Amino acid sequence: MTSINQNYLELQGSYLFSEIAKRRTAFMSEHPNAEIISLGIGDVTRGLPEAVLKAMHGAVDELAAPGTFRGYGPEQGYDFLIQAIIENDYKARGIDIASNEVFVSDGSKCDVGNIQEIFSEDSVVAVQDPVYPVYVDTNVMAGRSGRFNPETKRYDNIVYLECTAENQFKPALPGRKVDLIYLCYPNNPTGMTLTKEELKAWVDYAKANNCLILFDSAYEAFIQEKDVPHSIYEIEGAKEVAIEFRSFSKTAGFTGVRCAYTVVPRELKGYDAAGSAVLINDLWNRRHTTKFNGVSYVTQRGAAAIYSPEGREQIASLVQYYMSNAAVIRDGLASLGLEVFGGVNAPYIWLKTPQGMDSWTFFDKLLSEANIVGTPGVGFGQSGQGYFRLTAFGSRENTEKAVERIRKLSL
Ligand code: MLT
Repeated sequence: MTSINQNYLELQGSYLFSEIAKRRTAFMSEHPNAEIISLGIGDVTRGLPEAVLKAMHGAVDELAAPGTFRGYGPEQGYDFLIQAIIENDYKARGIDIASNEVFVSDGSKCDVGNIQEIFSEDSVVAVQDPVYPVYVDTNVMAGRSGRFNPETKRYDNIVYLECTAENQFKPALPGRKVDLIYLCYPNNPTGMTLTKEELKAWVDYAKANNCLILFDSAYEAFIQEKDVPHSIYEIEGAKEVAIEFRSFSKTAGFTGVRCAYTVVPRELKGYDAAGSAVLINDLWNRRHTTKFNGVSYVTQRGAAAIYSPEGREQIASLVQYYMSNAAVIRDGLASLGLEVFGGVNAPYIWLKTPQGMDSWTFFDKLLSEANIVGTPGVGFGQSGQGYFRLTAFGSRENTEKAVERIRKLSL
């Protein structure tokens, strides 16, 4: 008999973005002439930066020649990329990260999804609500969530940290003992951020309560304001309590190319059943080398090129392009009297649905009346009910068109 992992049966519905794609496809098959504008999944639309392309072409040529051909590379990533990351993303901000603390991978989604594997099944997990669904679903799959309560629409054993307009989308510290805390800043989906002082409160809490922060900063490149931390390691002591996830997806147009990295400091300790300390870095290294064979050489050469002078310039203009889209959406919707959040230090705009509509009703209205696909806030958790997310990753033309279409709706 083939017994399945029973935990999978606790998963609710399909993955959010698959559900959205399904509804979009159904609508398109009924309305084949509709010109759909997609501001739903945060997928980039601009091409890869010139510097990246050039580096990738060069790397392809290297692979063609016997003297420079490469087969399996180091699972943790090539040193040229790791050094570029350390110098530019950390040293430049006064943070010391060693090369054996960086793990290059094929995406932050995989890393934030896989990291939980190295922690015990009875770890108590806290997530922000609304939340990037991967954090919750991967813990459900691992049997850490408890049962889904159809009344609260939440899992019994997961601690939800509510983020709503009432608390400026800044969650309170957990009210009960937790072991793992997922934090995402700049936040997906709300687009909101914490100041250094606010983030420090989380680091201090984690230190005082022996918990680990899983800090997803996939959107740090979009930060525009000064007091917003780019890395959790800007906070003193964070290397003792935090793992950080970074991605090239949104920054450099790598959503289809796939490259990211995770920093697991050597200071981080977990405890075995006998109470002895174990280095989390060693466990993640063991997992990574066992289950992953490294990102392709061509991809890593492309990623390293974003740290060259021309690469940096091109990335900056890419970010500015998307952040101008964010301003178009933010200002456009605010001028219609809608309550909008985010979009200042992040490529996501989070809006309160008009007339108290629930999130999916607003999704259907936007799709059918304006042919715009967005993301229903409730898809990110119960605290997202009555909210809606739009991304700034469309083309300028489509972004402006979308705002004009929304302007014509009776809201
Ligand atoms: C999103 O739309 O939230 C992101 O694109 C999802 C992801 O990066 O996996």
